[in-house]
Amino acid sequence: MSYVAVVTGASRGIGEACATLLAERGMRVVVNYRWSRDEADAVVTAIRTAGGEAFAAQADVTVPDDVDRLVGDVRDRWGGVDVLVHNALAPFAMTSFQDITWEQLGGKLDQEMHAAFLVTKAVIPDMIERRRGRLVYLSTGLARQPRPGMIALGTAKAALGQFVRFVAQELGQHGITANVVAPSTVDQTWATEKLDTALIEQIAAATPLGRLARPIDVARTVAFFAGDEAAFTTGSFAPVNGGQAMD
Ligand SMILES: NC(=O)c1ccc[n+]([C@@H]2O[C@H](COP(=O)([O-])OP(=O)(O)OC[C@H]3O[C@@H](n4cnc5c(N)ncnc54)[C@H](OP(=O)(O)O)[C@@H]3O)[C@@H](O)[C@H]2O)c1
Repeated sequence: MSYVAVVTGASRGIGEACATLLAERGMRVVVNYRWSRDEADAVVTAIRTAGGEAFAAQADVTVPDDVDRLVGDVRDRWGGVDVLVHNALAPFAMTSFQDITWEQLGGKLDQEMHAAFLVTKAVIPDMIERRRGRLVYLSTGLARQPRPGMIALGTAKAALGQFVRFVAQELGQHGITANVVAPSTVDQTWATEKLDTALIEQIAAATPLGRLARPIDVARTVAFFAGDEAAFTTGSFAPVNGGQAMD
């Protein structure tokens, strides 16, 4: 029986690319969304047309009852979650430290951590029972390399990164891996729509591989951690950044 993967925030962007690739690789995929039902349905239709299995599932990943309902539906339909790709991106303020309010910074931290906490708590009982699970979390290079205006996102994702290490450390004994995938700026997403062209060109020029990341670049790394190949890698932070920053 093929693995069941839940991809949070899969109605567009990186989440859509992850859901599509995991389905191409034979997983049954749950396309989670919060509001964008038509977009999520379109992702599901594309997966099914290509011969894959998927369904769309509405849930706000910051709301406990929604997350419980989502995971309960998956259990009823397909018998439990094997792979979690936690990708959903809650909105955040793009502003300097001097201008940001505590409500903006603390609010983003709370949303990011609450969502990661809820979805992880909800999927691990099935994984523990099966003695196998894959947890993959989307972060960003900004968790390690600051850029002006990105303090809310970068700080929240840095907290997420340490949370994932604790989860990896504790759940390894159950055959569960937890890894972080951290792209630089990704083309064909909100980022390239919101950031100004000069900055985009600057980012591409500062990247040894000479371009921005694409959703499929990120999805391929996510698929690696979601599959059997990465069985002995956990607690890692995998940049998908064309060499823009190197450890
Ligand atoms: N784009 C980049 O350049 C970039 C770079 C580095 C890292 N990342 C990371 O990659 C991930 C995806 O980014 P993206 O650019 O593809 O995002 P995006 O295009 O803004 O898509 C966000 C997705 O998350 C969903 N979502 C938002 N809030 C949600 C909630 N509370 N509950 C459930 N779903 C929710 C959205 O669905 P609705 O429309 O229904 O709300 C949408 O499907 C994020 O974690 C982000 O930090 C992105």
